[in-house]
Amino acid sequence: MPKSATRFVCSDCGNVTSKWSGRCDGCGAWNTIAEEVPLSSGPGKTALGSAKGRAVPLGALSAKEAPPPRRASGMGELDRVLGCGLVDASAILVGGDPGIGKSTLLLQGAASFARAGAKAVYISGEEATSQVRMRAQRLGLTDAPVQLGAETNLRNILTTLEAESPDLAVIDSIQTLWSDTVDSAPGSVTQVRACAHELTTFAKRSGTSVVLVGHVTKEGQIAGPRVVEHMVDTVLYFEGERGHQFRLLRSVKNRFGPADEIGVFEMTGAGLAEVSNPSALFLSGREEPAPGSVVFAGIEGTRPVLCEFQALVAPSALANARRTVVGWDTGRLSMILAVLEARCGIPFTGLDVYLNVAGGMRITEPAADLAVAAALLSAREDVALPADMAVFGEISLSGALRPVAQTENRLKEAEKLGFTKALAPEGSKTGAAPGITVRKMPDLVTVVGDVFGAG
Ligand code: TYD
Ligand code: MG
Repeated sequence: MPKSATRFVCSDCGNVTSKWSGRCDGCGAWNTIAEEVPLSSGPGKTALGSAKGRAVPLGALSAKEAPPPRRASGMGELDRVLGCGLVDASAILVGGDPGIGKSTLLLQGAASFARAGAKAVYISGEEATSQVRMRAQRLGLTDAPVQLGAETNLRNILTTLEAESPDLAVIDSIQTLWSDTVDSAPGSVTQVRACAHELTTFAKRSGTSVVLVGHVTKEGQIAGPRVVEHMVDTVLYFEGERGHQFRLLRSVKNRFGPADEIGVFEMTGAGLAEVSNPSALFLSGREEPAPGSVVFAGIEGTRPVLCEFQALVAPSALANARRTVVGWDTGRLSMILAVLEARCGIPFTGLDVYLNVAGGMRITEPAADLAVAAALLSAREDVALPADMAVFGEISLSGALRPVAQTENRLKEAEKLGFTKALAPEGSKTGAAPGITVRKMPDLVTVVGDVFGAG
């Protein structure tokens, strides 16, 4: 059998070369090439070689299978994002910027699961046990029966987990682990992949749920969580703005529950506190009706969340007017500005536009189009919408407004928070919230004329 040759693979485009180089020949990206040692293959060159495989039992789709048992932590926001609790033998990746609060979240989570009766192990590769203990003390978790260890060698971690066979193992973080079977530095693509693969395999084999922490990084030096997303069952991202105390735990992939679900937390001096009514939090501190401020009734995952869009429009001193967006898509803003200009005759040339979602929230729903347009118009025309008006609707390129999903849930949440008015597309179903007067608009031109008296 020929000696298995080392090859170099680009982590972005998958281009394979025999020599390392700083720049990928395939896609031109820098610092993306990593060494890859092919797995030693078994007898026979192909899978159907001389050695016989084992026939895998096949079954009908209709075969009865019990739903996987779930373990709740009692931390409602965490359980919700996991899809009503943790499934045994699952592998979960929790990604996020360094310093956003992943270790805090998982220490609190592990403590909650342990208090609920699960056997929990927390292995830190980044901090010494004394540091983790100090944090636990500050968070008031010292009474929780969590077993703590500090280790970065994968072989030692797996041996420990085999011996303990816990229900839950938290590994903080995947970038610090190293496997002695792979000849590259901890944090490299090859190491991160190999370690994640061994740990997910361990989870399936042993029934232990494994939670991997992964730092999101922009440089190619340390491999980000993206390279292991496909190996795990659930991918959660912990996000938030550094300056804000709100933190969102967002599920972007979940084999055992709804994706796009969010859990809302607040970072306090005593750790992360759950926020069970995010709308009230996102709207707190809202001033009197102000031009440029519009409340959007959105849906995040399975629940309605209200938040505030703020726009500022000012004459520009630059040749190319500024478009600055926080919490919303820049391309989508350009589209709405173009529709306002082309269909409604409201130009923004020579005007700087700033758009911000209050509270550090990030909105991706097209249903926020109308709220964005209303905030822009309100800022430009210096007309404030009533403070108790909620807005939602999708805008098409023709300037028409399109009804959006879950209209009634949006209105019910707004009603619960004391709103009495709403601006929505014509054709929206509005029966569920009798306390709200809904102004139904067929298109953006009508909104410009009837609501803002412009155009
Ligand atoms: P950490 O969990 O260490 O972040 P990560 O593991 O994602 O790198 O959290 C670090 C930040 O959280 C740090 O800047 C301090 C802040 N923090 C609090 O504000 N309150 C607390 O009780 C704790 C433990 C941390
Ligand atoms: Mg950490």
